[in-house]
Amino acid sequence: MAGGGSDASVSTLSCAQCGKPAHLQCPKCVELKLPREGAAFCTQDCFKASWSSHKSVHLKAKLTTLGAGDTGEQNSTSTNDSWLYCLKKGQARAPKLPHFDWAGTLRPYPISKRRITPAHIEQPDWALDGIPKIEPNSDLQHVVEIKTPEQIERMRETCRIAREVLDAAARVIRPGITTDEIDEVVHEATIAAGGYPSPLNYHFFPKSCCTSVNEVICHGIPDARKLEDGDIVNVDVTVYYKGVHGDLNETFFVGNVDEASRRLVQCTYECLDKAIAIVKPGVRFREIGEVISRHAFMSGFSVVKSYCGHGIGELFHCAPNIPHYARNKAVGVMKPGQTFTIEPMINAGLWRDRMWPDGWTAVTADGKRSAQFEHTLLVTETGVEVLTARLPTSPSVFPWLT
Ligand code: MF3
Ligand code: CO
Ligand code: CO
Repeated sequence: MAGGGSDASVSTLSCAQCGKPAHLQCPKCVELKLPREGAAFCTQDCFKASWSSHKSVHLKAKLTTLGAGDTGEQNSTSTNDSWLYCLKKGQARAPKLPHFDWAGTLRPYPISKRRITPAHIEQPDWALDGIPKIEPNSDLQHVVEIKTPEQIERMRETCRIAREVLDAAARVIRPGITTDEIDEVVHEATIAAGGYPSPLNYHFFPKSCCTSVNEVICHGIPDARKLEDGDIVNVDVTVYYKGVHGDLNETFFVGNVDEASRRLVQCTYECLDKAIAIVKPGVRFREIGEVISRHAFMSGFSVVKSYCGHGIGELFHCAPNIPHYARNKAVGVMKPGQTFTIEPMINAGLWRDRMWPDGWTAVTADGKRSAQFEHTLLVTETGVEVLTARLPTSPSVFPWLT
């Protein structure tokens, strides 16, 4: 939350948040000379409540002002939002890299044009303009929803599709493939199943999945870099189908991976496994972080604090918040019918994270490797159902499972 609403004579306008008469105007919108409609708020509370979605109009406006001039993109003829977004958030994707204190050896590569989805596929509300509208303003950011049997059945279907999409990505991973080609597999498999790839244009995210290589913790943007022998790569898939999201990820080995990385990835898998094992009605959400943290610490690894698991359903991200670290302050206890993700990110070195200038790519501050696994879960009367569980057809890519 930045700044505060400045007073202005906008009383004829209505609040962009609640529709009541508005007496405040967003100072950033004033500075950018944006239309007063959509920039007016009745109270500081409404201004604050709308901030997480409202702020993206500032970015959008800046991009438009900067225009569709030549961005120097190498692998696309037409300018597109995703390219400009990454460029303007700090020029990380410009042909010449900006000055930045890169934590490790990985660097950003060009990003291809935004992929399209066929007209018959139902889109979430951010698909066209990059701005989630229902999600940030929903009561479900504060209250944990108990899903109806009908919602649960849709979650099962969507999560199974998401699993099959991730499995399709897993099958093509090898040295030499680019993360953009992995994104293409995810995109095509998702739309072939009748789904929409939830990350696509979510808060302007430019691609259909996240690919996080080596020191990237999460939210890596698929690009033109070829995977190299010895890399580890996490692929995070979320599918929107029949009005609900299903979210999972796994970290894969590229060719021959050193022993230390293999231990890191296996430990991360076990952290998620152990966390899932305690899920049942009555257990506190804050316990999940204790279990994960204990196992990671035992193996000499650390737990990322900046990114958490989340409630999921008709919204991509909602309550509850699920920290993966010890002594967290997560509120509430598990109840039958709740659906949420657990997605621990475990670092070989220290827990501290940093952000690349593209505004998305989260990396370890010390440049050492990070691994992650994620499942979408349903709390049942007696325990847990892993909605994104491996299938008999899932490729066997983890030596400890065979
Ligand atoms: N799938 C991620 C998660 O586990 C979220 C990705 S959002 C994106 O919550 F915009 F980065 F794609
Ligand atoms: Co998630
Ligand atoms: Co995910």
